[in-house]
Amino acid sequence: MIRFNDVSFSYENSDEMAVRNINAHIGRGEFVGIIGPSGAGKSTLLSMINGVIPHFYKGDFYGEVLVCGRDTVESTCGKLSHHVGSVFQDPESQIVSTVVEDEIAFGLENFNIPAGEIEARLAEALRMAGIEHLRHESTAALSGGQKQRVTIAAAIALRPEILVLDEPTSQLDPRGSRQVFTTLRQLNREYGITIIIVEQKVMLLSEFCSRLMVMEKGRIIMDGPTRSVLEHNDRLLELGINCPRIVTLTKLLKNASLWSGGYPVDVDEAETVVRGIMEGTHDQYQEPELSIQ
Ligand SMILES: Nc1ncnc2c1ncn2[C@@H]1O[C@H](COP(=O)(O)OP(=O)(O)OP(=O)(O)O)[C@@H](O)[C@H]1O
Ligand SMILES: [Mg+2]
Repeated sequence: MIRFNDVSFSYENSDEMAVRNINAHIGRGEFVGIIGPSGAGKSTLLSMINGVIPHFYKGDFYGEVLVCGRDTVESTCGKLSHHVGSVFQDPESQIVSTVVEDEIAFGLENFNIPAGEIEARLAEALRMAGIEHLRHESTAALSGGQKQRVTIAAAIALRPEILVLDEPTSQLDPRGSRQVFTTLRQLNREYGITIIIVEQKVMLLSEFCSRLMVMEKGRIIMDGPTRSVLEHNDRLLELGINCPRIVTLTKLLKNASLWSGGYPVDVDEAETVVRGIMEGTHDQYQEPELSIQ
């Protein structure tokens, strides 16, 4: 679906490479999380998938990016938008309409979706993004988190094959963030949409993504199944990435030789590990004899 062949890019007003020597392949239906410190090149990488680079941000572009078989340099943002939906880091910059429902319908009309289908798509997108109640609201009056949900709804409504999201939950509380990830999982599983998300909340990435890419200084320094990447929690911590508490707990259990298996990726799995240890060692555990004097 997406192929980066030895890609490097520097913005036109900079002589440093924002991303360098990127080689990666993302297959249909993957749910990929991207993490890394500020300035690592995460947003730049996403902008190469939806064509914002090189069509909006100019600079020196090396290598090639293929999206659904199209070379992004030879294609246009408009053409790529039929394959790739985008949710940008700053919702303010993305919203163009004054009323929520118009914002979502706008993209559908641009894509020449038949009028009869627009209502159904609109209603579904509002429901999936959890903002049915905001349908007739003015976009200017929304909170940052609500705006983020509107941009997510607008992207969902277009049912792209690929959805790239840049920190879409930065202004949402933990409950709202989880709802967004749950919606993304639904899109991924039910419609087979390939999801690529830059996100700071590693616990959510751990639970929902099948694959993690870690970026540092423009490079992808780790790329693999979520569980395997989290095993390198010491290296992640050096980059300032705090691993979920279940990872820290598992590490303690490993250091104490109580657990030699893989890292759990969510709380349910962690509970199974801990219960297993408690039940497994229970037989060996002797109650000290009670001494009564
Ligand atoms: N429009 C731009 N013009 C010039 N340089 C840029 C531009 N956007 C990003 N850069 C530079 O490119 C590098 C990668 O930036 P990028 O925004 O991709 O990082 P990021 O990992 O998304 O960071 P953050 O976590 O802060 O969003 C940084 O050195 C940044 O300063
Ligand atoms: Mg960024």
